Amino acid sequence: MQRIMTIFGTRPEAIKMAPVIKALEKDPTFSPVTVVTGQHKEMLDSALNAFHIKPDHNLHLMKKNQTLTSITVGALTKLEPIIAKTKPAIILVHGDTTTTLGATLAAFYQKIPVGHVEAGLRTYSRYDPYPEEINRQVTDAISSLYFAPTKKAEQNLLQEHHDASHVFVTGNTAIDALEHTVSADYHSDVLDKIDPQKKLLLVTMHRRENQGEPMRQALQAIKDMLLSRDDLEMIFPVHLSQRVQNIAHEVFDGVAQAHLTKPLDVIDFHNLAARSYLILTDSGGVQEEAPSLQKPVLVLRDTTERPEGVTAGTLKLVGTDPTMIKQALTELLNDPQKYKQMADAKNPYGDGHASERIVTALHQYLDGRDH
Ligand code: UD1
Ligand code: UDP
Repeated sequence: MQRIMTIFGTRPEAIKMAPVIKALEKDPTFSPVTVVTGQHKEMLDSALNAFHIKPDHNLHLMKKNQTLTSITVGALTKLEPIIAKTKPAIILVHGDTTTTLGATLAAFYQKIPVGHVEAGLRTYSRYDPYPEEINRQVTDAISSLYFAPTKKAEQNLLQEHHDASHVFVTGNTAIDALEHTVSADYHSDVLDKIDPQKKLLLVTMHRRENQGEPMRQALQAIKDMLLSRDDLEMIFPVHLSQRVQNIAHEVFDGVAQAHLTKPLDVIDFHNLAARSYLILTDSGGVQEEAPSLQKPVLVLRDTTERPEGVTAGTLKLVGTDPTMIKQALTELLNDPQKYKQMADAKNPYGDGHASERIVTALHQYLDGRDH
């Protein structure tokens, strides 16, 4: 049996790695070893619980005022003995977080090959998103095996001269995760509180480059819309980052139509997204999931590494400019044709079978190395 180590540490990584771990568990030739850095705590634990994943190792890194440096150093230091003892055939990482970068470096230092799930996403804009764009470029520079979610991501990798025989287009595992979470008869406290007569806006916003004035003005624009009409309600599960909490409460406290909640369990969140009217977000994962739920997304960013959704018509980039946000929102609320065009566009990010393709590619790669 070959040991396949997965290392991740934040909520989105857990949600998108969960289907890969499940697929590895089904394969009798692989022995999965799950390591979490604990870059996130409550938000990570909630995602792990939703998918019934019990990590073999948890580094418990999260501190209240953690910095990029403290997470990177902590991951490198604490992963070293675990990797040395386990000696996995390959280490799988996901995406572009500080954990991803730290785990990739830790693997490289012990000459263990890295398989990068969600490889090849690019804005080619150094600080946008910060620090994720450079995290994923460095991760791809070090990785040996690439699971590109789309043809576009594959193209980016090939343009950068990565070995084409080690690049596999798999789809995004986020879509696999949705198969486990969304059901028509799902009930929860949050869902049952929604007024069915109102159009529900689902909001999430947390990116570092948006924190401060951009976030404040974007949220203020949404607040203005809530106050200017009587057909809207908003739910905003607020990220636990203190900077995000402060701005969200400053803008929305006292607004009756605005419901701020704790980060939701992923099963609640996906089912809530499925019942929303539209989504406003700067999240990466939510941009990929929403089209599968036929929900238009207004992306609160100036760039996206997920341009496939913009081309397909499911995403619209509106940035954080209040005028742009209000215009786009008004159009989707008032023009059923425009709404339908966005809602009905086909999801370009996957078909729910990405994890199976990743396991097949792993066999191909590892069997090739054995000979
Ligand atoms: C990280 C990722 C980002 C990803 C996001 C997902 C990096 C560089 N960024 O950003 O790509 O989109 O996670 O959410 O890795 N906190 C808690 N409990 C938790 C989680 C966070 O209290 O369960 C608080 C902590 O005070 C922490 C802060 O949130 O210090 C920020 O978390 P951190 O992981 O440093 O950065 P994110 O902004 O979440
Ligand atoms: N999500 C969740 N609960 C919430 C908000 C989001 O489970 O309250 C899920 C969402 O469905 C997606 C992931 O978290 O799968 C996205 O995480 P986040 O936006 O924190 O990070 P990003 O994808 O931007 O890196």
